[in-house]
Amino acid sequence: MFSPYKLIRPVLVRMDEESSHSLAMRLLSRISDSSRLTVLEELLLGDRVPALPVEALGTQFQNPVGLAAGFDKDGLAFPALAGIGFGFIELGTVTPNPQPGNPGKRVFRIIDDNALINRLGFNSCGLDSFVLNLEKIKSVPRETVLGVNIGKNTNTPNERATMDYVRCFKGVYRYADYIAVNVSSPNSPGIRDLQNVARLDELLEAITQERVSLASSHAGKTVPIAVKISPDLDTKEIEAIVETAANRNVDAIIATNTTVTRPTDGTHKNYKENGGLSGKPLREMSTQVIRTASKVAGNSMTIIGTGGISSAEDAWDKILAGANLLQLYTSFVYQGTSVVKDIVVGLADLARQYESENFQSAIEQARQKPSRSRT
Ligand code: FNR
Repeated sequence: MFSPYKLIRPVLVRMDEESSHSLAMRLLSRISDSSRLTVLEELLLGDRVPALPVEALGTQFQNPVGLAAGFDKDGLAFPALAGIGFGFIELGTVTPNPQPGNPGKRVFRIIDDNALINRLGFNSCGLDSFVLNLEKIKSVPRETVLGVNIGKNTNTPNERATMDYVRCFKGVYRYADYIAVNVSSPNSPGIRDLQNVARLDELLEAITQERVSLASSHAGKTVPIAVKISPDLDTKEIEAIVETAANRNVDAIIATNTTVTRPTDGTHKNYKENGGLSGKPLREMSTQVIRTASKVAGNSMTIIGTGGISSAEDAWDKILAGANLLQLYTSFVYQGTSVVKDIVVGLADLARQYESENFQSAIEQARQKPSRSRT
């Protein structure tokens, strides 16, 4: 299939990682700001993605493939990203105050392994500017679900982290279709300690209480809450986190963020860089976390599977492990806009072999007969 991205990819991969991301973001923000798409812009956004509707989080997603947090941290390009055909887009991570993130080179490609390492450290325009950017989106007619991922400032100690999260939660509440609480970034010192169940419980108690009062001041609008977890947890830790979240009426688990581990057979020099590893080497780790989380959550929570999805088969494996929705980031960087359509079309084909009336019932059948999955 012709993909205009393939034409510009050689230019992008020759550029420094962050510069090519900035260039892509500048283009996407410009498209987002323009009221009418030019022919070139339409070409860059690619073909229309067919519908593959999924019900989750009390809403309908046009397809289950979302863009993971971190690509559009400041909420500048939602309309263009929606135009690419993602079923949902998670903006952020946004922090209460603006912060530059870590200094120096902080994103590294490992092209042969379809992987990235990043140690951005929550570079964010801050909540006030983020909300101004969301204000602009309000005027865009949209079917695409909008999630917002929230975090804390680097200089806020964990003892005061709850205030940061609650501030962001309140600020983005009216714009978001769901809000993801990020306690799993490896690049913000100490943040992953918030996955400790006592700390997490305290944080989720404050956020869910805030939700009750926000719902009453927003005409009953109750925004679903997701907790994004790390792949570097052991089974017991995952079980405890999911139980804690379920007991606090959290609606979803996002599994997973990037890993600080490195593949034992990874030889590329960039594996020596500190930071979170994403893409193919993360794939099986995150699927395993999804499996564990889904066993504990049962039907009580939505599982959003993230980590190394670059094909319909990868996505299907995560669905069989218990994911209801999927997100990707690294494969979007390497494959460009066509990855969304390729995965949605491929998922529809995989589901068709079950001769079910819809995608959801095909998934239910497939989960009972996991032998049909890829080995
Ligand atoms: C991320 N990710 C991320 N996650 C998050 O919750 N907040 C963030 O700000 C970021 N930022 C970020 C930047 C970069 C450069 C990358 C590569 C990743 C993690 C991302 O959302 C996702 O969980 C992982 O990348 C795993 O998915 P993929 O990339 O393997 O599809």
